Amino acid sequence: MNNNKILKIFKSEPSSEIPIWFLRQAGRHIPEYFSIRSKSKSFIDFCLNKDLIIESTRLPLKYYNIDAAIVFSDILMIPWAMNRNVKFVQGHGPLMDPMIPNETIILDNINIIDSLKPLKDALTILRTSLSSDICLIGFAGAPWTLACYMIDGGSSKDFIETRKAIWGSYKWFNKLINTLIIYVVDILEMQAKAGADVLMIFDSWSHMIPSVFWKDFAINPTKEIISNLRKRKILNPIIGFPFKGGNSIIDYSYESGVDCIALDWTVDLPWAIKNINTEIVIQGNLDPAALISNNLNLHKNVDFILSNMVDKRFIFNVGHGLTPDCKIENIKAVIKQVKNYKS
Ligand code: CP3
Repeated sequence: MNNNKILKIFKSEPSSEIPIWFLRQAGRHIPEYFSIRSKSKSFIDFCLNKDLIIESTRLPLKYYNIDAAIVFSDILMIPWAMNRNVKFVQGHGPLMDPMIPNETIILDNINIIDSLKPLKDALTILRTSLSSDICLIGFAGAPWTLACYMIDGGSSKDFIETRKAIWGSYKWFNKLINTLIIYVVDILEMQAKAGADVLMIFDSWSHMIPSVFWKDFAINPTKEIISNLRKRKILNPIIGFPFKGGNSIIDYSYESGVDCIALDWTVDLPWAIKNINTEIVIQGNLDPAALISNNLNLHKNVDFILSNMVDKRFIFNVGHGLTPDCKIENIKAVIKQVKNYKS
């Protein structure tokens, strides 16, 4: 019998348990991850290897009683396909050739689906081989977050080059955002057709958008992505993650068209319940840092989240990705606590 708890929440069907999964659940906090990763010579090659995508997507399911598998890939596969020379350098995170506003030609004729065929094939195999209880999640980066990496050339404390581009090269910047919207729609459509049940859009740097442009570069692109997907008959639920969006997440929750808003660890849940659109599903928002050391506050905090959210359409998750030092034992204890919760 299909007991996909996450899909049930989206269909507003009652579920006996609160569903749970973790952002970056397939990463370096599991020692076995390193042996899978060492089978390819670079992180990009890893993300282009169908068998390794399948193996790493399944990895957290070996350890945890969780309700979803997120396909192993990276948001930066779009810039990679756009020939930005993306590299993951140990200790530095991602690096790529920075785009120069008004100068760098924006490639608007890339076939993302052809470039990422291993991702498509992996999803097809995963959907047919995983239990139907497990929700398979596909994803993409939001246009703003992708533009941040592409213009600043990697991570940055303030993304000054990207912010300069908005003010100084608006037309060029807008063309980049519009091109990225097309690729995000294509990559999400491909993942849904290949077998993803739910799609997630990561706007990891939404807190770098100058407030006057928040609607233009966070809400409207998301709205356009979703309306294009719906026009293409992709009806899968969509989770949006406006990381550290502050008060702007209120408008995002009402206007972007997402079916679920993922809350980051800075969001106060009672504030969220009072202010954001609670007609949509809420996901979140345990601080992943609480999973690093043994501490009594962990269980108190999980209980605080559960007691606030138990009567809502809610998916338990962390408020940002698990870090390499998160402890498997702590994660297992949280899963047990969520699964056994009685209000
Ligand atoms: O379990 C999963 O979530 C699997 C898939 C996944 C990865 N990246 C694998 C990965 C997902 C959903 C992502 C999304 C992603 N990638 C985001 C959005 C979420 C967020 O964290 O805000 C962002 C911003 C990226 C870009 C990125 N990729 C960075 C900044 C880094 C380096 C920093 C870091 O955390 O190591 C990556 C590399 C990356 N992507 C790793 C993994 C498992 C670590 C790579 C390694 O060294 O093996």
